[in-house]
Amino acid sequence: MLVQRCASVTPANPPSIHNEGMSGRRTRVLAVDRTHPDPAVVAEAATCLRAGGLVVIPTETVYGLGANALSPVAVAAIFAAKGRPFTDPLIVHVSGVDDLEAIARDIPPVARRLASQFWPGPLTLILPKRDVVPASVTAGLATVAIRVPAHPVARAVIAAAGVPVAAPSANLYSRPSPTQAAHVLADLDGRVDIVLDAGPTDVGVESTVLDLTVVPPIVRRPGGVTLEALRAVVPGVELLTRYGDSREAQTSPGQLLRHYAPQTRLTLIDGHAEAVRRYVVTEIQARAGHGARVGVLAPAEDVGALRAVLGERLDVVWQAYGARRDPVRGAHELFDALRVLDRSGIAEMLAIAPEPVGLGLAVHDRLTRAAAGRVVHVEGTGPSEPVPSEMRDRR
Ligand code: TXA
Ligand code: MG
Repeated sequence: MLVQRCASVTPANPPSIHNEGMSGRRTRVLAVDRTHPDPAVVAEAATCLRAGGLVVIPTETVYGLGANALSPVAVAAIFAAKGRPFTDPLIVHVSGVDDLEAIARDIPPVARRLASQFWPGPLTLILPKRDVVPASVTAGLATVAIRVPAHPVARAVIAAAGVPVAAPSANLYSRPSPTQAAHVLADLDGRVDIVLDAGPTDVGVESTVLDLTVVPPIVRRPGGVTLEALRAVVPGVELLTRYGDSREAQTSPGQLLRHYAPQTRLTLIDGHAEAVRRYVVTEIQARAGHGARVGVLAPAEDVGALRAVLGERLDVVWQAYGARRDPVRGAHELFDALRVLDRSGIAEMLAIAPEPVGLGLAVHDRLTRAAAGRVVHVEGTGPSEPVPSEMRDRR
């Protein structure tokens, strides 16, 4: 019955049928226009959600694996599809600020100020939950994470479903978040009912998670709304900076260190641009002749400077993500770059960290987690020894 209702086909938009996975779901991919979604496709996705199905929905940040947030059975299916531990709570997506009251209680004035400034958009607010929210959504916590996504497809589907939609990023647990439908299928084909394909997402990193149950409010995960933008509205906002700390694991269960990880071992190199480039050159030269290929994930300026020094070589796979002068593009390209490099047959990855300002803070956070502790802080703010002119920072 449930699967039947999710399996109906919109004649105007014949789906491509993908594998039937272990979960017994046939994944159907429905193309949808990102600004003017076909009402028939929206209605089909909404019907599937109401019937307890799993629908992958594009949001402005990343694709989300959606289910009816008020149904414990549907919510349990999210955890099963992702292989996600039940201790990691989900974000509840609603279609407008008016729905806040139904999900959360004791809403402080600052929540309304932030909502009017940043919703719809990539900001998630943590507030005390109402009883209507199943314990499985919040991993038993007394608080709930809520956001109003800005993507027209997400907004249309949530409004048509008429229920709040619980949605984590639509990737297998601990893998990089999906910014394209192809990423979703690589992880979840045969595990979900419908994938709405609206092309690449805009922001590319997940929403900023802001905890409003503590004073001052604390950013538990930097994301699409920058810390600078938040502080312009609420000057006291603090940033959680410890990773994988056990006390922290109790209050923000999803923020454990190993996350967003490629299968290939990744080492993050952080520091001043020129010092970092010198370090990467040394590391690559030290590996020369060992037969294994190294992937280098770096902003475009760094890739350009390093290639100029090292030349074309078979033992290095270069992968740019954005550019130092364009952190917005860095966020947009990060997760795809990680996945592309992961598939390129390399033995290990060296990633160059962006400056942790603006959207660069979220990118820095994701790469730190992907590195799972392997972070090298290179000393020095400039050349301590003669550096070839090609390696000079041209910012
Ligand atoms: O942009 C996004 O936020 C995407 C799209 C789909 O909306 N969603 C997303 O969900 O990234 P997920 O499940 O991958 O990450 C949710 C984060 C986790 O780190 C989780 O621990 C945290 O939000 N979170 C959820 N509820 C919480 C709560 N009550 N208290 C503290 N942290 C919470
Ligand atoms: Mg996630």
